[in-house]
Amino acid sequence: MRTQVAIIGAGPAGLTLGRLLEKAGIDAVIVERKSADYVLSRIRAGVLEQASVELLSSIGVDTRMNAEGIIHEGVELSFDGDMLRIDFEGLIGRHVMVYGQTEVTRDLMDARIQTGGKTVYEAEDVEILDFDTATPRVRYRKDGETYEIACDFIAGCDGFHGVSRQSVPEAALKIYERVYPFGWLGVLVEQPPVAEELIYAHHHRGFALCSMRSHTRSRYYVQVDAAEKVEDWSDDTFWDELRARLNPEVAEALKTGPSIEKSIAPLRSFVAEPVRFNSLFLAGDAAHIVPPTGAKGLNMAIHDVGLLASALTEYYAEKSEAGLDAYSEKLLANTWRTERFSWWMTQLLHTFPETGPFGRKIQRADFDYLKASIHARRTLAENYTGFRPEAG
Ligand code: APR
Ligand code: PHB
Repeated sequence: MRTQVAIIGAGPAGLTLGRLLEKAGIDAVIVERKSADYVLSRIRAGVLEQASVELLSSIGVDTRMNAEGIIHEGVELSFDGDMLRIDFEGLIGRHVMVYGQTEVTRDLMDARIQTGGKTVYEAEDVEILDFDTATPRVRYRKDGETYEIACDFIAGCDGFHGVSRQSVPEAALKIYERVYPFGWLGVLVEQPPVAEELIYAHHHRGFALCSMRSHTRSRYYVQVDAAEKVEDWSDDTFWDELRARLNPEVAEALKTGPSIEKSIAPLRSFVAEPVRFNSLFLAGDAAHIVPPTGAKGLNMAIHDVGLLASALTEYYAEKSEAGLDAYSEKLLANTWRTERFSWWMTQLLHTFPETGPFGRKIQRADFDYLKASIHARRTLAENYTGFRPEAG
């Protein structure tokens, strides 16, 4: 088989890239190791920056998002029960869209089925070969047969545990990483959200987050030690702990019920440099990971493949390699800006026993500065809704 671009991974990055290339008339094949149902079974955050909404709209996968997504013009911070609203619209005239990542993925999958774009699901033993040459190949097994794809470029959209980054010689990669000593215990419940907007709560017992998937389905999180096991948390224990970390009025208003999903996710900050290796380009979680505190993972993936699609379009349309040559530097500039913001939100809102009473005083001072300064609130709003550098 031959194609112009072989995409490894049918998550948000791979599917969005596939759609962008289709729109540009560039042939691409997606190779995914799991089934489509498995990919859709993943529960992931869904806070879309305006730029992400605009890109998804530009590739015609926004119908359901516009019908079912919820515009949020602000977010609430809670610090030991003190509440502070960050008014995105009032501060910087922007908003975000709450629309589950699973739904984004479903919309992208449906669009690809309609156009007949080739996607190989349940591909086993995927290998990327000769990516340090101009004639890279992808090899995989399916139903006992071995297949090979000859291509011009390989897009590594296969996430943190994928084969793409792991195929790069260790000496060619610089890794930057911080693993946090805690995780997020998350619960999905068929109950209306406790508030109209998200509530990020700092409490001396630990961080909590009140989020949502729709007007009838809510998503809640509490910070837990990295060693905790989800089976040690009954629903009642979870609801009691969540209430204990929220403002009393919010805790009173909380509507609980049986969890329809419950899991613990680890938190890490991670960046691999560079992200281009001749014909191989990393994008999304394959290149970087952020703690979910800033709701950035999906937005970074969409940003990355937008950049890659523009560079590939320029290459095929104008035989220019300028965009391809600039890809790594541009992607990493956005990545580090977003890593910083996600790290800062995590530092502000979680308990870090190792930093002691002084650390908690600094966190309180950070929160009080946000209360006192419109510039501090504007900075948070600018980053949360999606910072884009000024032109020039
Ligand atoms: N071969 C083929 N596919 C693979 C391989 C492999 N060796 N390894 C992983 N994959 C697939 C996974 O099964 C997954 O469907 O690559 C896809 C990667 O998708 P994601 O992990 O969702 O990463 P990405 O598309 O970059 O999206 C990032 O997803 O995980 C969230 O929090 C993350 O919001 C962020 C977003
Ligand atoms: C979620 O709804 O799962 C969610 C929302 C915002 C975050 C993280 C997760 O920052």
